Amino acid sequence: MLADKDRIFTNVYGFQDWGLKAAQARGDWDDTKALIQRGQDSIIEEVKASGLRGRGGAGFPTGLKWSFMPKESKDGRPSFLVINADESEPGSCKDREIIRHDPHKLIEGALVAGFAMRARAAYIYIRGEYIREAETLQAAIDEAYDAGLIGKNASGSGYDYDVFMHRGAGAYICGEETAMIESLEGKKGQPRLKPPFPAGAGLYGCPTTVNNVESIAVVPTILRRGASWFASFGRENNKGTKLFQISGHVNKPCVVEEALSIPFSELIEKHCGGIRGGKDNLLAVIPGGSSVPLVPAEQIWDAPMDFDGLKELGSGLGTAGVIVMDKSTDIVRAISRLSYFYKHESCGQCTPCREGTGWMWRMMERLRTGDAAIEEIDMLQQVTKQVEGHTICALGDAAAWPIQGLIRHFRPELERRIHEHNAKFAEAAE
Ligand code: NAI
Ligand code: SF4
Repeated sequence: MLADKDRIFTNVYGFQDWGLKAAQARGDWDDTKALIQRGQDSIIEEVKASGLRGRGGAGFPTGLKWSFMPKESKDGRPSFLVINADESEPGSCKDREIIRHDPHKLIEGALVAGFAMRARAAYIYIRGEYIREAETLQAAIDEAYDAGLIGKNASGSGYDYDVFMHRGAGAYICGEETAMIESLEGKKGQPRLKPPFPAGAGLYGCPTTVNNVESIAVVPTILRRGASWFASFGRENNKGTKLFQISGHVNKPCVVEEALSIPFSELIEKHCGGIRGGKDNLLAVIPGGSSVPLVPAEQIWDAPMDFDGLKELGSGLGTAGVIVMDKSTDIVRAISRLSYFYKHESCGQCTPCREGTGWMWRMMERLRTGDAAIEEIDMLQQVTKQVEGHTICALGDAAAWPIQGLIRHFRPELERRIHEHNAKFAEAAE
């Protein structure tokens, strides 16, 4: 179990004040100027050496992403950092806790990371539903300006740097990085084709990096305590600490910071008071927010909770939004509900996603009630394969994968429902 002294988010439960004075007492904004004076290349190298991978779901190496940003401005164009606080993935709620209780970690991280990539400003895009969180964040930004920590000559470093907060309006797709950029520009939030990646052409056509809240908020601590300290947690390719968000059928749902690669069993037993009704009552787990396939109980129990360990099980770490389902769960209904979510949130721009998410949901509903033919299970699998990899953004994949996981692991349950429904129908006809 991670020792208290190794936790980055020491106020994640809000036992202390989030304000500037209390944040400074916890070590935030401690000689930020010295961090900046290390220089851009040195900061990027340190973050690369720490092994930090993006905490928003995709796990792309953070330092490498920053290194794609240009060192010289072309035609006087500024560079920007966009921070993704849109957190709309079902099962994910860690960025919310950071903003509620530790907003200064995020703002200091925005300055240091923005400096490293030679950005002129950071835009923090926060989901519209986070109303109180947006108020807290704006108040924290104002405090930082008033104290001279950001703005002109930020933290006395000689670097001018602004931080702006922008509120979303409730569309899940605006969490996709290029849709977020479109939305920031005042347009309809629809993903762009990649490449070009944002580092080449991002906000207002300028070089831009989009990073998740947690990825940015951990940076000052990594720089202060050193890359090797951060890299001492987890295992090769899966380093550092991570906020896990455990919801569903555990005795004590929570958000907790732990070392990556912690076994699922330890996460649940040590922090969540175990599975409701005991270990044998576990049915399945969606380990990384709703976009990744479920893993059945017998496979997840001893699995390391990290990028590679969950990939080996045909799933993923995603945001580490761990959704636990016990045997009382109607698993087909649960996945069907997720299908509806993706159908509802599809931006409609590309045909396989616009049409496919509707097809998948309608077929899932037929399987839920059992009012389907056995062949429809394979037909549904084929539809998911037609959607997966054939769309502009990852929403199509995210809609397909949970269904694929259901068919892979719970085909007998789907068949049982169909047989049961047909038997009832035949009985009624007699
Ligand atoms: P992605 O793998 O396409 O990209 C990840 C990041 O790496 C992006 O910033 C991208 O610009 C960059 N990148 C990738 N290849 C690159 C290259 N060759 N050159 C330069 N930059 C490159 O994944 P994406 O679509 O950004 O994110 C998908 C993930 O987001 C899903 O796996 C899901 O877990 C997660 N997600 C999280 C949500 C949340 O609420 N936090 C909501 C929805 C999805
Ligand atoms: Fe829009 Fe879906 Fe296409 Fe993404 S995959 S661009 S959400 S239609």
